[in-house]
Amino acid sequence: MEIDKIEKRIIIASLSLMGLFVFSLLYAKNKYKSDVPECIPYSKIYTEPKITKLDDQTYQVFAIARMWQFQPAKIEIPAGTDVDIYLTSNDVVHGFNIAEKNVNMMAVFGAINKTTVRFDKPGVYDIVCHEYCGVGHQNMRAQVVVNYREEK
Ligand code: CUA
Repeated sequence: MEIDKIEKRIIIASLSLMGLFVFSLLYAKNKYKSDVPECIPYSKIYTEPKITKLDDQTYQVFAIARMWQFQPAKIEIPAGTDVDIYLTSNDVVHGFNIAEKNVNMMAVFGAINKTTVRFDKPGVYDIVCHEYCGVGHQNMRAQVVVNYREEK
């Protein structure tokens, strides 16, 4: 079977374009060390808000979004910490946005979304819900408080 010349060129052109897209995606992921949020199997243990210190540089947070607050409302950690965030919702779909850290997740009932964020600079980072979820939406926020590390 013979392929039309022009058709062949179009196929090659579109394949190279797709290759370019995939390449740029992987390139950006490596260059900016962006962490692609992952979806992990649902389990009841993630539905209780919790902050756990795993080691000196790693904290684990189970975050719950509900109308109209986040739990825990305040996450206090020392500077230079990686935080594994496991996020779910207790009711409708909420957003979970930390603008300064380029974190943009959805909180969905029955699903767990996970991402890891590194906090090097002391300060207060706002978490806001950026998905309209009802009358209390604009008040739905929380904070990550990054403290100076104590000298040892
Ligand atoms: Cu929760 Cu908007």
